[in-house]
Amino acid sequence: MDWQWKLLPLLTLLASFLFLFYIQDSFKPFQSDCSLLPYSHYWIASKHIVTPQGIISGAVEVKGGNIISIVKDKDWNGKSKQVVDYGYAVVMPGLIDVHAHLDDPGRAEWEGFPSGTKAAAAGGITTLIDMPLNSFPSTVSTETLKLKIEAAEKRIFVDVGFWGGLVPGNAFNATALEGLLNAGVLGLKSFMCPSGINDFPMTDANHIKAGLSVLAKYRRPLLVHSEIQQDVESYLQDEDGDDPRLYSTYLKTRPPSWEEAAIRELLTVTKDTRIGGPAEGAHLHVVHLSDASSSLDLIKEAKRRGDSITVETCPHYLAFSAEEIPDGDTRFKCAPPIRDAANKENLWNALMEGHIDMLSSDHSPTVPELKLLNDGNFLRAWGGISSIQFVLPVTWSYGRKFGVTLEQLALWWSERPAKLAQQHSKGAIAIGNHADIVVWEPEVEFDLNADHPMYVKNPSISAYIGKRLSGKVLATFVRGNLVYNEGNHAAAACGALILAT
Ligand SMILES: *[C@@H]1O[C@H](CO)[C@@H](O)[C@H](O)[C@H]1NC(C)=O
Ligand SMILES: [Zn+2]
Repeated sequence: MDWQWKLLPLLTLLASFLFLFYIQDSFKPFQSDCSLLPYSHYWIASKHIVTPQGIISGAVEVKGGNIISIVKDKDWNGKSKQVVDYGYAVVMPGLIDVHAHLDDPGRAEWEGFPSGTKAAAAGGITTLIDMPLNSFPSTVSTETLKLKIEAAEKRIFVDVGFWGGLVPGNAFNATALEGLLNAGVLGLKSFMCPSGINDFPMTDANHIKAGLSVLAKYRRPLLVHSEIQQDVESYLQDEDGDDPRLYSTYLKTRPPSWEEAAIRELLTVTKDTRIGGPAEGAHLHVVHLSDASSSLDLIKEAKRRGDSITVETCPHYLAFSAEEIPDGDTRFKCAPPIRDAANKENLWNALMEGHIDMLSSDHSPTVPELKLLNDGNFLRAWGGISSIQFVLPVTWSYGRKFGVTLEQLALWWSERPAKLAQQHSKGAIAIGNHADIVVWEPEVEFDLNADHPMYVKNPSISAYIGKRLSGKVLATFVRGNLVYNEGNHAAAACGALILAT
C-alpha cells in the first residue's frame, strides 16, 4: 500500500472534525474582553420581556450582536445550553440617552468617555448621544468632531453618537454645517441663551432658521435649549436683600417666562418644518423642558398645527421640587431650574398624556470645586445635574404613584429617543435589532448612599445621594456583549461609535 493511502483514515477523521467544528461554530464559546459572557450565540430568558407587542414570557435569541428571534414560553424548550435565565427580572430595550455631556476631550476631569459610559452601562443605558459643549473645544466643525472621535475610540463601554453645535460662527455658512453633518453628527444643538461655555455662543431665530434649512436636506434634527433671558438684573437689584444661598433666589433668576419666550420665538420658525414648508425634513426638539404651563401649551399647539417638533424632560424635574431643595445644596442647580411641586405634577401628567415625548438624563457634571461651593452660593455654582447611572430607577421610583408602566419606560427611554437619533436598529426588542438590552428588578429597593458603587468621575456631586430608590439594574447588553453584570464591567471598552452616513 502506498504511504498516501495510510493517511486516508486520518484525513477522514480530520474532515469529520472540521465538519463538526463547522456546524458547532455558532455555539462555540468565544473569548472576548468585550463581554462578560463567553458566548456570541445565546438566549436571554425571562418571564417579563418588554416588546413593542407587549410583555411576554419567553426568550430572546442573540447572535452576532443582533436579536435573531424572540420566542414565547410555549414555543421555547431550552433549545440550547447557552441560556441566561433571568427568571422574573425585567428584560427591556436598553435606554438611549439623547442628552449627555461627557466633557471629553478638554474637560475630562469633569467626566470623560470611560467613566461616563461605565456609569451609563451600570444604569442600563446602551447608547448615549454626547452633547457638543462642555468639552473643549466644542463640537462645532469637522476638526473638532475629529477630536471627539479620537477621544472616544476604544474608550466607550456603550454606543456613542454625537450632536454638533449650531453657533453664530457656522449658522450662516452652509459649507461648514454640511461638512459637520457629512462627518457624522446625528443633528445639531443650539442655545437661545448664554450656554455658560465661552466657545459655544447663543443663537437667535435667524441662525436657527438658517440651520434648519441645511438640516432639512439631511433630514436630521435641531435640538434647542429653549430659554431666552428676560429682564432679570433689574429685579434682582430691586431685591438686593436676596440671599444667594436660598434656592428660591436662584429660581427667581430664571422664571418660566424665559422658557415661554424662547418657545414662542422658536415656533416662528418651526412652521418651516411642515410638509411642503421650506425646511420640510428638518425637525425641532426642545431639550429639558421644565415649565409645564404656558411653554408646554405652545408646544402642544405647534404639534396640532403639524410642525415637526418633539420635547423631552429629565428625571430631576420629575423627582425634585423647589420646595424641598435645601438652602445651599447646589447639587440641585440646573437650567432651566427645577420648579415647584405643582409644576412637577403637571410634568408627570403631560408625560402620561403623551404631550412630552421622551426623557433624557441631561447628565451635566463638573468638578466638586465648581459645584459644591463652601458658601452654598446658588448664583455662582455650576448649573448641571449628575445623574446618568440612576435615571432608570429614578423614573420608575417617582413614576409609580402616577401609574407608570414598563411599556411607557421603554417608549420614553428607548423607542422615541431611537427615533430622534434615527437609530432604526435600536430602541426595541425586535428581530433584526441590535441586542441592546437592560435586565433589571423593579421591586428591589436600595439606599443610594455615598458608598454605593458609582462610576462617574465625580460621585460626590450626584443629586440622588441620600435617596431611596426602587429598581436595580442587574445586567446590560450592548450589541450582544454583556458589558455590565452586577457590579462588574467587561474588561475592554467595545462600544461602537455612531456616525450618521
Ligand atoms: C465657511 O466654512 C468653511 C469650512 O469651515 C470655511 O472654509 C469658510 O471660510 C467659511 N466661510 C465663511 C464665509 O466664513
Ligand atoms: Zn445639557
